[in-house]
Amino acid sequence: MSSRPVVVCGLLGVNVDRGGWERWRPTLDVCRHQDFVVDRFDLLVQDGFEKLASEVEADMHSVSPETEVVRHAISFEDPWDFEEVYARLHDFAAAQAYDPEREDLLVHITTGSHVAQICLYLLTEAHYLPGRLLQTSPPRRGSRGGPGRRVTIDLDLSRYDRLHARFERERVEGQSFLKAGIVTRNDAFNELIERIERVAIRSRDPVLLLGPTGAGKSELARRIHELKRERRQLQGSFVEVNCATLRGENAMSALFGHVRGAFTGAVTERPGLLRKADGGMLFLDEIGELGLDEQAMLLRALEEGTFLPLGADTEASSRFQLIAGTNRDLRTEVREGSFRLDLLARIDMWTFDLPPLTDRPEDIEPNLDFELERVGHRDDRRVSFNREARAAFLDFATGPEALWRGNFRDFGAAVRRMATLAPGGRIGRETVREEVERLQLSWRGGEPEASVDVLLRQVMGEEQLAATDRFDRVQLADVIRVCRRARSLSEAGRLLFAASRRRRRSSNDADRLRKYLMRHDLSFDDVQ
Ligand SMILES: Nc1ncnc2c1ncn2[C@@H]1O[C@H](COP(=O)(O)OP(=O)(O)OP(=O)(O)O)[C@@H](O)[C@H]1O
Ligand SMILES: [Mg+2]
Repeated sequence: MSSRPVVVCGLLGVNVDRGGWERWRPTLDVCRHQDFVVDRFDLLVQDGFEKLASEVEADMHSVSPETEVVRHAISFEDPWDFEEVYARLHDFAAAQAYDPEREDLLVHITTGSHVAQICLYLLTEAHYLPGRLLQTSPPRRGSRGGPGRRVTIDLDLSRYDRLHARFERERVEGQSFLKAGIVTRNDAFNELIERIERVAIRSRDPVLLLGPTGAGKSELARRIHELKRERRQLQGSFVEVNCATLRGENAMSALFGHVRGAFTGAVTERPGLLRKADGGMLFLDEIGELGLDEQAMLLRALEEGTFLPLGADTEASSRFQLIAGTNRDLRTEVREGSFRLDLLARIDMWTFDLPPLTDRPEDIEPNLDFELERVGHRDDRRVSFNREARAAFLDFATGPEALWRGNFRDFGAAVRRMATLAPGGRIGRETVREEVERLQLSWRGGEPEASVDVLLRQVMGEEQLAATDRFDRVQLADVIRVCRRARSLSEAGRLLFAASRRRRRSSNDADRLRKYLMRHDLSFDDVQ
């Protein structure tokens, strides 16, 4: 490293480099160190300061005759204008073509306006100036007359990795916050949250949250807002409305407001939700329920920041970030004419699809602990499972029989019920058994099960169905239902032959199931 000639590049300080020997002058000081020889100094001299440059150069020669001083004229109309200063310095860097293989470049950042110093830092970090930063400061009190202090900073080195590690830590904290502190294990979900965190702190464009009911859209929307506030991305509040509750005339006025006397009954002015969300975030839940007129007005408000309150003759304005939620397929709604294509295009900028709970079996356990803690906090008592009961509940909750139709809403309710019923705050096997039955019953009620024949016709076709005895149809239909919920042949086998298994009468459930299906000319893939 030291075999390469040392080249310093820096701006002549129009104030700090002025004065006599009794003053500390940074550019001169760079050349006064015994242990540090500058082979070449590329001195950037602003227009009008040539005389000062000559004086400084002469002083540099006298303290360090071996330093070659090369002057470069540079002109800033306004040394405090970022764009201009950056552009000039960038041009300079490009023209020099510094070669880090051949010279050890140090970029002196103690002189120049603060803007110039920041620009030099940026150009160094981006390797337009391929070197290290050089910072100088006056000698400590008491050592007057000697050279000042000197620090070199290599932005590529590990101490600056620590700064990056801090950013990384902040990112991880943000992600954890979005997950309510739950240590989730599902890769797809964690990737989704990572992306949401990145978008949340960088973008003010609309966000669209998709996902089945109870998947956590509303909760996530609130957390995104909180994260943005914490990171100073937004100052305004979180304004939330479920569009299904907005109907008729009230919808327009609730969203966009009205003036006094806009319609009979409008005795006072109403600002509307958009204005309430000014500077903050507007969460339109179930946006698919919004009427077409409201959609048109909303689109305009998003694009131009203005809209016309009911009965007003001047426009109102609001700058808000939109976050929308829906469990409907908005594309289908567009095809059916109930949702505007242009609005969809506008809000489909950052779309995140929250998975149903059944797609995240790995996350059931951490969520269980989270819910238990939450219940404990709310009721101010500790609730826990006994070991066997916990295993039984997890087994059911992650298995194919658990449909979790209401996702976290069902899951949270189940845990709350068990916690409430558990004697002495201890959830036992019996409480779990009752809850599992309750859940199964409620999900069965919600599922319009295809009738036996309809189901079999789908799988085996009309002809084969006709050749199947009624005696076999009911059993076969139930087997098919179980297969469809199971993720694999073995899982379906375990469920279907659970009783024999417990009595250790069955050794290979998968094989038994495969043979059963084969008797009906079917395979696991066929019935799935
Ligand atoms: N990641 C999560 N972990 C645990 N509980 C959650 C999580 N996300 C949401 N919940 C809880 O689940 C319930 C439903 O969540 P939320 O209201 O956010 O769902 P949603 O997707 O908005 O549903 P809907 O489509 O019906 O409006 C709430 O009680 C919420 O506190
Ligand atoms: Mg919701």
